[in-house]
Amino acid sequence: MGNGRLSNVLARQYDRLSERLEKGIDGPRLRTTLVGDLTGRVVEIGAGTGRNLPYYAKAEHVVAVEPSAGMRALVPGKLAGVVPMVEVIDATGEHLPFPDEEFDAAVAFLLLCVVDDLDAVLKEIHRVLKPGGKLSFFEHVRDTGRRGRAQDLATPLLRRVQFGCRPNRRTIERMEATGFAVHLGEPVALRPKPPLSGPYFSGTAIRR
Ligand SMILES: C[S@@+](CC[C@H](N)C(=O)[O-])C[C@H]1O[C@@H](n2cnc3c(N)ncnc32)[C@H](O)[C@@H]1O
Repeated sequence: MGNGRLSNVLARQYDRLSERLEKGIDGPRLRTTLVGDLTGRVVEIGAGTGRNLPYYAKAEHVVAVEPSAGMRALVPGKLAGVVPMVEVIDATGEHLPFPDEEFDAAVAFLLLCVVDDLDAVLKEIHRVLKPGGKLSFFEHVRDTGRRGRAQDLATPLLRRVQFGCRPNRRTIERMEATGFAVHLGEPVALRPKPPLSGPYFSGTAIRR
């Protein structure tokens, strides 16, 4: 999303659009399930405008990694009443500026569809988690059959008009190849159903 004035405009636009998404996914319940029980030191990558931050009830310290200045600028508005210590930093998931095995848990919420290099981001998350550490995620993945093939065709266009989102990523397979044991929850139904994105899943990936 970059920096500068365009970044601010896009960030405000994204924040408004995600208000609608919140209703479509029952955001408060989903975000509570994903981050509410995480403890210790947690890194959230692609934290956006900080929508998850109010739901960390048990973490000791949350580091929110977000490369867009426009997104970071909207985080303070989400911090009222937040329990853990929160630090917001400018970095990308491909190059996390932390030592090995620094965190007890990591969070990715609609991140892995937008990053430039999925494998590099997963490798970095694996590196900064302690052995047995947990990546808690909500993501969408490539569908099977005809819908999956339609996603392959549509991805180059959708990337341009949907904040860089690639709906045809085989994210779960890539997590397993990186060294995570993945536990998927039930698919999350979005209302209204996006014609070319999904299925959406929440789940956990444990660092082997
Ligand atoms: C779809 S938004 C999701 C924001 C947030 N997680 C939420 O729940 O609303 C994706 C976020 O990932 C950020 N992002 C994009 N590329 C990234 C990268 N390579 N590393 C880290 N964050 C990235 C974007 O700036 C954006 O804030």
